[in-house]
Amino acid sequence: MRKSLVAGNWKMNKTIAETRDLIFKMIAPLREITGVEQVICPPFMSLMAASALLEGSGIGLGAQNMHWEEKGAFTGETSPMMVKELCGYVILGHSERRAYFNETDQVVNRKVLSAQAAGLTAIVCVGETLEQYESKLTMDVVSSQTSNSLKGVSAEYAPRLIVAYEPVWAIGTGKASNGTEANAVVKEVIRPALAKLFGEETAQAVRVLYGGSVTAANAAEFFNQPEIDGALVGGASMKVEEFVAIAKAAAN
Ligand code: 13P
Repeated sequence: MRKSLVAGNWKMNKTIAETRDLIFKMIAPLREITGVEQVICPPFMSLMAASALLEGSGIGLGAQNMHWEEKGAFTGETSPMMVKELCGYVILGHSERRAYFNETDQVVNRKVLSAQAAGLTAIVCVGETLEQYESKLTMDVVSSQTSNSLKGVSAEYAPRLIVAYEPVWAIGTGKASNGTEANAVVKEVIRPALAKLFGEETAQAVRVLYGGSVTAANAAEFFNQPEIDGALVGGASMKVEEFVAIAKAAAN
């Protein structure tokens, strides 16, 4: 049985003061919800403040990116061990990183291997663009992104891995995919790619999330799918009532 998980990706939103305020409002209602792993991923600048507030709450903290190197002359970057001091999770290969910061599968792969070495739980994002979707390339693209991003990951670490299927055309557009279609991508390409890498049994242990315009209104449609174990939520994760409702839906 895979435990459900909901993660909020705040992207480049919320100052430290705003982070404190939002977490302060969320923490009590989120703590009441059991049976679902909950993770909040605010911007780097807010991680310290968030970590202090979340301590002992059972709610996890995640970064939205990191460098793969341990340390050194990489101005502006953050190392795995720096992330590990405050966080248990790290989002890697988000489509915005791939699109705006030229992250290739090879770059994502180096980061995933570093997350493994640092003992961080990587939330690895894959998903096709609108153009690829319309050209019916979804299955090919998602399959190769999954295998290439996870190359060399050990079968021991794999059960800790989280894959997020986020069709790029569904992100921030209000046009979510639908349960059946998203489930089919996970079943037909993501799990088979995981099985090739780690073996059938381990592939079944990896949690796969859906992301892209998830709201309180459509969350259950995704969570009712057998292959979908939760959600990576953007916009709605910064609205207390929405995120709490999504976490509740995942717990049911
Ligand atoms: P939205 O939920 O705002 O569409 O964002 C999804 C996302 O990119 C989460 O990583």
